[in-house]
Amino acid sequence: MTAPNAVHQRVEALRAEIRHHNHRYYVLADPQVPDAEYDRLFAALRALESEYPSLITPDSPTQRVGAKPQPEFLEVRHAIPMRSLDNAMSDDKLAEFHRRIVAALPDAQPVCYSAEPKLDGLAVSLRYEGGALVRAATRGDGSRGEDVTLNVRTIQSVPLRLLGGDWPEVLEVRGEVYMTRTGLAELNARIARPFANPRNAAAGSLRQLNARITAERPLEFCCYGWGEVSHALDESHYTVLKRLAGWGIPISQALRQVADLEGCRAYFEDLARRRDSLNYDIDGVVFKIDALAERARLGETSRHPRWAIARKFPSQEELTEIEAVEFQVGRTGAVTPVARLRPVQVGGVSVANATLHNMDEVIRKDVRIGDTVVVRRAGDVIPEVVGVVIERRPRDAQLVELPHACPVCGSDVIRPPGESVARCTGGLYCPAQRKEAIEHFASRRAMDIEGLGDKLVEQLVDLDWVREPADLYHLTQAQLAQLERMGEKSAANLIAALEHSKETTFARFIFALGIREVGETTALALAERFDGIASLMSVKESDFVRERGVKGIGRKTAESLHQYLVDHPQAQTDISLADWLADLGIRGLTRARTALLAAFFGDIAALRAAEPRDLYFNSKPLIEGIGPVIAAHIAGFFAQAHNCEAIERLLAAGIRWPAPAVEAAVRPLAGKTMVITGALSRPRDEIKTWLEGLGAKVTGSVSRKTDYLLAGEDAGSKLDRARALGVRILDEAALKALLEQHT
Ligand code: IVH
Repeated sequence: MTAPNAVHQRVEALRAEIRHHNHRYYVLADPQVPDAEYDRLFAALRALESEYPSLITPDSPTQRVGAKPQPEFLEVRHAIPMRSLDNAMSDDKLAEFHRRIVAALPDAQPVCYSAEPKLDGLAVSLRYEGGALVRAATRGDGSRGEDVTLNVRTIQSVPLRLLGGDWPEVLEVRGEVYMTRTGLAELNARIARPFANPRNAAAGSLRQLNARITAERPLEFCCYGWGEVSHALDESHYTVLKRLAGWGIPISQALRQVADLEGCRAYFEDLARRRDSLNYDIDGVVFKIDALAERARLGETSRHPRWAIARKFPSQEELTEIEAVEFQVGRTGAVTPVARLRPVQVGGVSVANATLHNMDEVIRKDVRIGDTVVVRRAGDVIPEVVGVVIERRPRDAQLVELPHACPVCGSDVIRPPGESVARCTGGLYCPAQRKEAIEHFASRRAMDIEGLGDKLVEQLVDLDWVREPADLYHLTQAQLAQLERMGEKSAANLIAALEHSKETTFARFIFALGIREVGETTALALAERFDGIASLMSVKESDFVRERGVKGIGRKTAESLHQYLVDHPQAQTDISLADWLADLGIRGLTRARTALLAAFFGDIAALRAAEPRDLYFNSKPLIEGIGPVIAAHIAGFFAQAHNCEAIERLLAAGIRWPAPAVEAAVRPLAGKTMVITGALSRPRDEIKTWLEGLGAKVTGSVSRKTDYLLAGEDAGSKLDRARALGVRILDEAALKALLEQHT
């Protein structure tokens, strides 16, 4: 059907509007309309095009992704060769380049350069004729490349039709197809074999015979030059690029004009500083003589132009081989695979080790011992193995396996269900975890050993005076007084604090053990459920879950069976339960499953008595908040004899907690809220513990809910507030008198 003129005009108007919004969105990253409005315009255009297919043109925004994969890439000859750049690896080389320019252009002082980042992707040339994209080609060997038109058309920031109208009839723009770092991360998260770096990702994505795959890859384009043009564009590189940008071609936001060597240096330094914070990889900056007339005077060699130079950053990536994979144990017990590498210089530093993060990453990247790998060292970040060069894998490459025993202490290594990090279970015993374990043990919410901070723990462990928490209780005052910055007085205070910490609660003690994922709430739940440390120490993973139903039976099958039993209350049988079940013809109830059910229930009466929940396999935590991961950590911890011995030694050192259910008679302050203030006869913490032992709840500030304020000498604002609120105020003598009344 031929389209009426009005429809034709409407279609063109919609396309123009969509192109404009595409440019705002994909090139300028500054959309003008909400997505919904854009979608509406797009849908309207699609509808008209499907009604009038004769109106469809290749440059329509709806035509980015073609229908068929191509059998191969055709060859494209570049009318003007795509040259590469000369490199300056050092500042001296850059200065040398500048001197050559000054010598060759004595009348062009100061020398104006245009400066832009050197993007790390692959070079392509885009040919526009009459404003429409007609061909896209890779650089190839410089004179011949591959026709990647169908793929490049799927890159949203590449205009299929130029904006505006004063463009030359033939316009070939050149630039880099690349991927942003976030784009790569997003892509790697959804593909089976991740790309090692954005350059590989961009090349791999562009060279797809099926453009539908390319369309799903987050590719970008940035123009840095041009080839054949039917008439001259402007007088300088900078102004030409700005014109191209006006036609909707993406150019670098970092494009600048700079003067002389100093300008180049400052630009280079600035980008080097910002390199790690950019969202795309760059491997240097490019300086080009800005005035096109001056470029023409300089000319080119067979390989590169004399008017441009790439000042490269030190490379962040190198190739090397994995000689071995070892496992390191961190302070928190995390067991991390570390690759031992044939040493290689990366960015001026020798790299011999690189992290592999965890076993999930090892599997994802398919790293094996003997592999040639890409190692990357960016900024101050720990060197990392980014990927394997599969083509170079030797026949005898070995798989990496997680050790069963901790390489430091020999305790079991566990990897709870669904976790990517494996951990050593020897928390109290493992030398790698010593400092962390003891710092945690001493901390305020754990054993609350006043004066034993992280610095001091570090010293004690480094001196090898303390290897495990129990050793703390065997330190002597004389020993402590030898330490730097520790006087007799503080040594005595610390001994007193240690002594004082021995009396604690079961929950605090459990928390102090530093079992992975066991915080205060879980510790309290455990303290309430277990009647003592002995029963906790013999706990198994299965003690934390209540399992119901028959293993091998799923929920759907169970529900169908249950429904059948409800609908047929009378059905009786004298054949075996298994045979009877097999004859019912219930979907999903295979022979194997009927056997499982029969073995579990024995007879039909037992089966009838069951609810669906008793039929299909399901499990639920027995203690609230303790799911399979925490259960694995708890059971794993107590399964280590070393940990249990360390606990025994703590108990032998005198750690104790009052029996949980104390009679009300010996808890005369039960239900009372108290606040302590001023100087008292004993340290405040000691008094607090004593009052808590008598049943009081001791809080930090006076309110209407406070029953008593225990006030010592020099009491201040709390005393005033208690008076104002009419809270009963006691000194130590009055408190004693009060307690005597109760006993
Ligand atoms: S100009 C005649 N500018 O680097 C000069 N190239 O070694 C042509 N590249 O193949 C290149 N960013 O893939 C130029 N701002 C930039 C660049 C750049 C990246 C790549 C390009 C080229 C290679 C040159």
